[in-house]
Amino acid sequence: MGITIIGTGHHVPGKPVPNDALSRVMDTSDEWIRPRTGIAQRHFVAEGEGVSDLALIASQRALKNAGLEAEEVDFIVFATMTPEFIFPGSGGLLGAKLGIPRIPALDIRQQCAAMPFGLQVANGLIETGAARTILLIGADAHAGFMPWDDWDVLTGDADGPVSDEAYERGTRHRGLAVLFGDGAAAMVLRHVDPPRGFLGAELHTDGRLFDRIYIPSGGFRSRPYFTPEMFEREEHIPRMQGRDLFKVAVTELSRCVRSICEKVGVSLDDVDWFIAHQANDRINNAVRQALKVPAEKVPSNIARYGNTSAATIGILLDELRREGKVREGQLVCFFALGSGLNWGATLVRL
Ligand code: UT7
Repeated sequence: MGITIIGTGHHVPGKPVPNDALSRVMDTSDEWIRPRTGIAQRHFVAEGEGVSDLALIASQRALKNAGLEAEEVDFIVFATMTPEFIFPGSGGLLGAKLGIPRIPALDIRQQCAAMPFGLQVANGLIETGAARTILLIGADAHAGFMPWDDWDVLTGDADGPVSDEAYERGTRHRGLAVLFGDGAAAMVLRHVDPPRGFLGAELHTDGRLFDRIYIPSGGFRSRPYFTPEMFEREEHIPRMQGRDLFKVAVTELSRCVRSICEKVGVSLDDVDWFIAHQANDRINNAVRQALKVPAEKVPSNIARYGNTSAATIGILLDELRREGKVREGQLVCFFALGSGLNWGATLVRL
């Protein structure tokens, strides 16, 4: 069977928030952020806006791009680590908003590694005949865990300065807070004839490394699952061991990309594009150098969006397809690592 991506779309909310704006709410600067990460700006959802709202627009664009109506979708796979509710997941909310309630919606939570996992799940569902046309979503809205309250000062709508206490809180979490931005991407997957498409995936999960990036509180080990004390301890904000994650990402992703190419029987030279999760340009450059792959084959858009978690790969793929760079028939390797830790690489003939 040949199962491939026949349509893509993406959406980011609101106006871009440049690095300099973050220095109004914490001790950071464009000079620190840009050379260390490649990030120049990011977008944030508005209060009350959730991932299914972002995903709705991305999905409509992807369906239009595929030349399909929403009614032709018979399965939703929705990847996010920032759902509207602890339960239910956001997939069903998207189905209702798209006007296709009652079709099955599977929520997956592989965080930043969502797309290699999501592509394998979607491929499996079509292979077994459980689905014919899948909408695969990656969407995240991180605004809710940012360590500041003064959104008006951040956006320049209020003068500031913020209180010393707020500034110190922001600064305590600056290593994390500067990285993330909000957005959604959608892919439409279907069987194509003559067959081409999904060639294989190599996926890994290592729960021993869960504390490299995770949210300490707001979980059901605790009674109740969220308390005012947790909030006081700032445990709704993720903890991240950035340096360690960086090293694991470079080592494991290079190994994984090499390994999936060997398994499928293609050389690194045969791959037209390496479409990587956008966590940090320096991670992807180090992977690229380890694999001795030319820079032009490893595109980046992190400067404009930051790390949009589950959405990065889909946003980048959509931009490259719309620019006419990534084309039908080309071989693409998607790779990503995220909280879990989960990581993986997937080869797809578009
Ligand atoms: O999607 C998956 C999740 N995340 C990742 O994959 C992240 C992987 N890791 C990284 O990208 C990098 O580790 C970071 C960009 C997060 C951090 O870069 P780093 O070079 O590892 O910096 P560091 O955390 O070791 O901090 C270096 C210095 C420290 O100051 P001192 O102790 O040397 O005085 C930090 O306090 O930079 C300081 N610092 C900042 N300064 C200004 C940390 N964050 C900031 C900031 N602005 N935002």
